[in-house]
Amino acid sequence: MANNRGQWGSRLGFVLAASGSAVGLGNLWKFPYLSWKNDGGAFVIAYIFAVLLLGLPIMMAEILIGKKAQESPVPAFEKLGGKAWSLVGWLGVAAGAVILAYYTVIAGWSLRSFFQCVLWSVEGYTAPGPNDFGVFLGNGALQIGLTFVFTILTSVIVYRGIGGGIERASKIMMPVLYLILLYLVGTALLMPGRDEALRHLFVPHFSKMTTTTALEAMGQAFFSMSLGLGAMITYGSYMKKDESVFRSSLWVLIADTSVAILAAIAMFSIIHSVPSLVQKMEANELNAVGMLFVTLPALFYTTMPGGVVVGPLFYVLVAFAALTSTISLGEVVASLLIDRKGWSRSKATLVSASAVFGGSVLCALSLGAVEPLSTIELFAGKQGVLSNLDHLAANWMLPLGGLGITIFVGWFLGKKACQEELGLQKATAAFTAWLWIVRVLAPLVIFIMLAAILSGKDFS
Ligand code: TRP
Repeated sequence: MANNRGQWGSRLGFVLAASGSAVGLGNLWKFPYLSWKNDGGAFVIAYIFAVLLLGLPIMMAEILIGKKAQESPVPAFEKLGGKAWSLVGWLGVAAGAVILAYYTVIAGWSLRSFFQCVLWSVEGYTAPGPNDFGVFLGNGALQIGLTFVFTILTSVIVYRGIGGGIERASKIMMPVLYLILLYLVGTALLMPGRDEALRHLFVPHFSKMTTTTALEAMGQAFFSMSLGLGAMITYGSYMKKDESVFRSSLWVLIADTSVAILAAIAMFSIIHSVPSLVQKMEANELNAVGMLFVTLPALFYTTMPGGVVVGPLFYVLVAFAALTSTISLGEVVASLLIDRKGWSRSKATLVSASAVFGGSVLCALSLGAVEPLSTIELFAGKQGVLSNLDHLAANWMLPLGGLGITIFVGWFLGKKACQEELGLQKATAAFTAWLWIVRVLAPLVIFIMLAAILSGKDFS
């Protein structure tokens, strides 16, 4: 079946698609918010450590599995490790479906912010009421509608396959995303908040570097680099045999981390240009979680010179970033049906997208629209279907999946097989370092994360 699975047209194709998976709401919404919450500098440093020390090696491990097996996660584990290991694949696909269900709902918000900005640009800015966003969240029909639009966009691309769908879409959306981001950063750096923003983001207070900072940085690295559920196994399975796993992974890391940091620079510069806002955020009167969808849209029109143009463009960027991530999650689920059941891509896409959309509807209605859905509490302190699914995926499924992946590659796949797949003639020092990170350090850190979660820490 391997020959009709599809393949990336070039290394750039893989790098752009995998970067597209990695760059998403995690970079634009979660990273700036977590940085703000955790002293900026201290978090940024911890994050850079986390992506280099753990993110990169684990990403290489995932890509290596996919490239070697040339199959999506479930059949890949089965082929390389036998039936029992395919459980890790199943866990991954389940995590992919869960994340896709709620992620699509949040992705839909980018469409709303886009239309809101266009309207403000055309008709002039009118300040939204204090509970404007809450009303939007509680509008079930609108939430479902936006989610539906995003589901269709995702499915159309997945339906068109690897080269003609995902690769082509990424080749258009990723460069556009970068151009808009650079323009935004350039404009934001002309604002008066620049110096304070850069200090906030890059000058760490080491006293603020707590275990929580380190753990949150690691959890964020996992999510942001799309690790732990086999997305990179899936994308790696469409890679040509002679391509370098290390170099491709490094490019994805650079793309992912640079978008997160550039977005934070821009957002911090804009926010720091309004001292009263900073005070409110520091006094916790204004929650940093709302930075991307609540605080920022208004600032484009009240504070930022040229915001009339940048505002709508920025939410195109957010939508593109989210879309290249949802297609990677959609591909994980669809490819299971293609590889395992031998279904055509169109049937696999239609069936998986419909099933996941069912879950999305529950999430969309859980933001205030429908009573038991928005109040249900499966995990302590998590209200509503969406929050609970986020908690389930980020705190349990991704770390457990990551554990399975690292232990499998480190201890069961064999040193020779890894070396061969990484294109090495002999075991270099770097290879040995990588292997021991995957064997010992990464599982150990994931254990510590799971222990922290058990004792009440929350990565969602
Ligand atoms: N990395 C994406 C983001 O930062 C989200 C994402 C896409 C993801 N595919 C994934 C997260 C696979 C975990 C696993 O928004």
